[in-house]
Amino acid sequence: MSQQKQIRRKTVRDIASAKSGDPLVCLTAYSAPMAELLDPYCDILLVGDSVGMVVHGLPSTVGVTLEMMILHGQAVMRGSEQAFVVVDMPFGSYETNADQAFLNAARLMSEVGCQAVKIESGTYASHQIAHLVARGVPVMGHVGLRPQAVHLEGGFRTKGRTEAGWQKALDEAKAAADAGAFALVVEGVSEDLAEEITNSVPCPTIGIGASAKCDGQILVTEDMLGLFDWTPKFVRKFGQMRGDIQHAVEAYQSAVQSRTFPGSAEIYKYPKPGS
Ligand code: KIV
Repeated sequence: MSQQKQIRRKTVRDIASAKSGDPLVCLTAYSAPMAELLDPYCDILLVGDSVGMVVHGLPSTVGVTLEMMILHGQAVMRGSEQAFVVVDMPFGSYETNADQAFLNAARLMSEVGCQAVKIESGTYASHQIAHLVARGVPVMGHVGLRPQAVHLEGGFRTKGRTEAGWQKALDEAKAAADAGAFALVVEGVSEDLAEEITNSVPCPTIGIGASAKCDGQILVTEDMLGLFDWTPKFVRKFGQMRGDIQHAVEAYQSAVQSRTFPGSAEIYKYPKPGS
């Protein structure tokens, strides 16, 4: 019998139990080595469509394709073993109708092997969410600031600043939860609105730029590690990745230029064959 240790991946039930338990620790991941590093600490790894901006240098998430999500999702599955892995449905892959949403969600579930998909959920998307859930696909909703709507909004704008905006965010959250979403990302809302949403839905809420009044938190990993000069105001940098990389590359440059690279006599000093 195999001696390999059996590690069970978290399930939708583990995630749901956070409503009354410890806050969910969630981060984005797009590659196998990063997933491997994050996996022991995270309840959820999200293969977010933010990959388009963070890895591919796109100006927004609008240009991200299903093929990109599949490739990055497969890498994250290879690198992780215990976290619950959710893959974003990119712009244009679910809005047309419920059949389109199911066909594309089914590709993500079967080709990636992830545990769930995420849909940026305006109230119109609750039909798609219910359709997927009825067919066995767990769906995470995403309400408040919806990055895929950047062109409609004229930028990445926080939500709930007017009475109508507050009510809209609340209605969208309730509609996604009623449709069967097992969790909701709540992005770019005030603490009071985050608290009201969290108290109004039976599923866990996962905040990003939405205060600590949620059932868990998520950040873009590279933002949190300090890879970028610019990050949204709410991001706390827990690392100095940009500076660390710059120092390491400077050290490499100087080793190469001074011919002290790789500088190991043991590796290169062996006799000529036959001498
Ligand atoms: O695409 C993404 O990474 C996301 C998170 C920031 C929530 O949707």
